[in-house]
Amino acid sequence: MSAQIIDGKAIAQAVRDGVALEVAELKAAGVEPCLAVMLVGENPASRVYVGMKEKMCAEVGIKAVDLRLPADTPEEEILAVLDSWNEDPAVHGILVQLPLPDHVDEKTVMERIRPEKDADGFHPVNVGRMASGDRSAFRPCTPAGIQVMLQHIGYDPAGKHAVIVGRSNIVGRPMATILSQKEPFANATVTIAHSRSDDLGAITRLADLLIVAVGWPNAVTGNMVSEGTVVIDVGVNRVDDDSRERGYRLVGDVAFDEVAEKASWITPVPGGVGPMTIAMLLKNTVTAARRLSGTD
Ligand code: GUN
Repeated sequence: MSAQIIDGKAIAQAVRDGVALEVAELKAAGVEPCLAVMLVGENPASRVYVGMKEKMCAEVGIKAVDLRLPADTPEEEILAVLDSWNEDPAVHGILVQLPLPDHVDEKTVMERIRPEKDADGFHPVNVGRMASGDRSAFRPCTPAGIQVMLQHIGYDPAGKHAVIVGRSNIVGRPMATILSQKEPFANATVTIAHSRSDDLGAITRLADLLIVAVGWPNAVTGNMVSEGTVVIDVGVNRVDDDSRERGYRLVGDVAFDEVAEKASWITPVPGGVGPMTIAMLLKNTVTAARRLSGTD
């Protein structure tokens, strides 16, 4: 089999078109949706992600407040900014780009964001609500975006075996929660595998749907995938490439060429999951703006 490519760029564009219509409606009702974004430090990948998030906000008409703080900013100062954004009625969504510098406690920061403004869906109140089946909870953008991708290609995971490789709070765990929900485009049988799993290949070969989010290239190779599997690659890794002007290229966690020989569908990197994450962030922001302004 040779896989069909899941065009994350096109699907994300469709999501953003819908968000832009919602933004226009809100603006007509006198509400300007606004996402406040905080970046602490100089992590080059984070700078790129934050830049893309803000560019996409502009495209759909969401106002972005951009706060860049030096890497040595005290935690107290970060929390004080969050308090002011929590209180500010003009701010509807809040995002603190991760990872944070070592001296800052991520948990304390995440918990300080008002759950109603938690555009990333990382606050424990939203995590807990989602886990208990409350569909109004803000969901983390990457797994939510993957579910939308599956919808767009018409792949219903109901009854299928979804294997998720990676147990991060940003992708793996919430992906398992979403795919095991009793709701459309979920109802899967879910396995979470991770860096400590014995014989990873024996587990991934059992997958109908394989979602890989571990953070290193070639974590899943052709011999680890069965014919016809739907493969979603969440990884974004820089590998040296002298033929590129910038000296590197981006690859996923999946050995694309060999896995594409066997998969039925596969996401490319770049142009797969990445654009979906941002599109869902915009969607969460507009949902927050609707709710907070009473226009939902
Ligand atoms: N770092 C990596 N992914 C994400 C994300 O989805 N949101 C935030 N805030 N930080 C990240």
